[in-house]
Amino acid sequence: MTKITVTKDIENIVANYAYGEDIGFGKTLAPVMIEMKYANGSWSEPEFKPYGPLQIDPAAKVLHYAQEIFEGMKAYKNDSDEVYLFRPDANAKRFNASAIRMAMPEVDVDTFIQTVTTFTDVMSEHVPKGINKSLYLRPFMIATEPTLGVKASTEYSYFVIGCLVERYFANPSVKVMVELDNCRAAPGGIGFAKTGGNYGASLQAYQRTRDHDCDQTLWLDAINKKYVEELSGMNFFAVIGDELVTPELTDTILAGITRDSILKIAKNFGLKAVEKKIDINELLEAIEKGQCSEAFACGTASVLTPIESLEFKDKTYKLTHPEGKKSKEIKDYFLRLQRGLETDANSWAIKVN
Ligand code: COI
Repeated sequence: MTKITVTKDIENIVANYAYGEDIGFGKTLAPVMIEMKYANGSWSEPEFKPYGPLQIDPAAKVLHYAQEIFEGMKAYKNDSDEVYLFRPDANAKRFNASAIRMAMPEVDVDTFIQTVTTFTDVMSEHVPKGINKSLYLRPFMIATEPTLGVKASTEYSYFVIGCLVERYFANPSVKVMVELDNCRAAPGGIGFAKTGGNYGASLQAYQRTRDHDCDQTLWLDAINKKYVEELSGMNFFAVIGDELVTPELTDTILAGITRDSILKIAKNFGLKAVEKKIDINELLEAIEKGQCSEAFACGTASVLTPIESLEFKDKTYKLTHPEGKKSKEIKDYFLRLQRGLETDANSWAIKVN
């Protein structure tokens, strides 16, 4: 596979990149992007471009039938100015699992890793330092064939864009509302795929969640409206006694890479990792009895964010440790791990620069 060319123009654009103090989340966009096109059954070579609006045909299938997938990943800088990616191979594999479900072409795993690594390397001087800061990368693919038949597109574009980010949520912990009207994903559907429709489907409930002064929606399974699935764009964990419990994966739940990593390191913190069906009524009872002492949201964007309370049918259930306790220990370790500051037995942190 050929190296991605970084021209003098691209280097100059990156060298002159200017941004303010308040980088926020998702608004301080990197000044360059990578694009790769798919046509006639194969991908072109990836190419760096200045960041800018796309020219897209109004009939492109993505605009009508939502044939689109994406990934979320971060690059982290430590005090020695070393920049790391975290498990980019896992993102590449999940991207392809989403592609298959959405009838889109896969991207070669090495090519995917090369695009995100080169993008990060080019942007490395701007990766912000600090425990809550990073460069967020958003690889995505859209269907570009300009025809309105409901069929898989024969043409696609793959992009990597990025942005400098700090904390996803305004507050260090979140209030969660359990959604009972809408459902996010049904068996056999697209819930496990990282595709825009799942996020669009969550927005109406998010408005209700905000009306109740909560920050995140917790989704239950579509059939029984009983078993906890995930939050909108992040996975759910609860600490119950010495168990770290999370819903077992089904085709309605996104297989979070942060989720998987936390399950694998739980034992370092004296917790037994348990993946199972979580009955919302049993969970709320465990919170009331103080058996479930803490809960948290996790994902690339949200990292590990403690849950203060769960609202269910207008009743609020407060967690004993709303600021997190065990989860804080895990989070502190995890943040260091992502920055190459812990011995990484799993070789998850990959040095880029
Ligand atoms: C991520 O965590 O990377 C996501 O894609 C979820 C979204 C909340 C930004």
